[in-house]
Amino acid sequence: MKQEGNVPATPAAPRRPRKKWPMVVGVVAVVLVVAGAGFLVWHESPSFCNAICHEPMDPYVEGYYQDEALMAHAHQVADTTCLDCHEPKIDEQINEGLAWVRGDYSVGEDGMLTTVGVRSDAQMCATAGCHDFNEVVETTQNWGGEEGVNPHESHQGYQLDCSSCHSAHGQSMMYCNTCHDYQVPEGWAAPVQSAGPTAKA
Ligand code: HEC
Ligand code: HEC
Ligand code: HEC
Repeated sequence: MKQEGNVPATPAAPRRPRKKWPMVVGVVAVVLVVAGAGFLVWHESPSFCNAICHEPMDPYVEGYYQDEALMAHAHQVADTTCLDCHEPKIDEQINEGLAWVRGDYSVGEDGMLTTVGVRSDAQMCATAGCHDFNEVVETTQNWGGEEGVNPHESHQGYQLDCSSCHSAHGQSMMYCNTCHDYQVPEGWAAPVQSAGPTAKA
């Protein structure tokens, strides 16, 4: 009857069997931390991306390592990993995981995703440690030997995403040539010309 108020006064009996818990918890915590760290390291490596999700990730990973025509490959050579460009965000990764489990995505004949959700822009590419955009502008002055022409600095302004021209995993495209007839870099596509300043009638 009196025990209610006395519980803390007799701690010896219940405490003893509990003593192992801190150790068990400690061991589990260490295992989780080590496994977690291992997972994070693996997560950082390109092989993580297609370890489970062969479809649709295989062509992206293969191209990254093997296709010299791809911008992604040039970045592989420069030690830039998938996650340097594809900044992992928890909500996006969960959505990607769910889409994969549900089969809620579609791929083309080349095995690449047909629903493009990612685009490169100045925020992805022209940030500290990556590309200095002023230098980029410099390298393409007087493009194709034509005075005043610069794909990186034009009347199209900086509204153009890098993806308007550059593709990381596919063929890049000389967007300006929708209307103009400028030099097209080797291996790039030229868009079908619409009527424009130099369009041939
Ligand atoms: C240089 C930066 C860069 C690197 C490195 C890179 N990607 Fe990409 N990735 C992009 C860009 C930009 C796109 C948008 C489509 C494009 O440009 O081809 C994209 C698109 C994708 C897509 C299509 C997703 C969507 O929603 O459109 C997948 C999947 C993908 N990348 C996987 C990978 C994997 C796997 C690796 C590493 C093996 C990788 N990427 C390396 C920049 C990069
Ligand atoms: C209107 C088309 C277009 C857009 C938009 C564009 N580029 Fe380019 N970019 C080019 C062309 C053309 C080249 C020259 C490629 C070549 O010589 O093979 C080039 C080359 C480059 C190079 C290589 C420069 C060198 O050192 O040789 C980098 C880096 C680059 N672009 C970054 C960017 C970034 C970052 C963006 C977005 C902020 C961007 N580009 C937007 C067309 C474009
Ligand atoms: C939607 C069509 C369109 C696109 C896309 C386009 N331009 Fe133009 N551009 C024009 C028109 C129209 C003019 C004005 C032509 C004129 O006055 O003779 C022009 C003028 C110019 C001029 C001035 C010199 C000239 O030929 O008169 C330059 C340089 C130029 N564009 C560069 C570019 C570059 C670089 C890109 C790609 C980043 C680009 N343009 C994309 C339509 C376009």
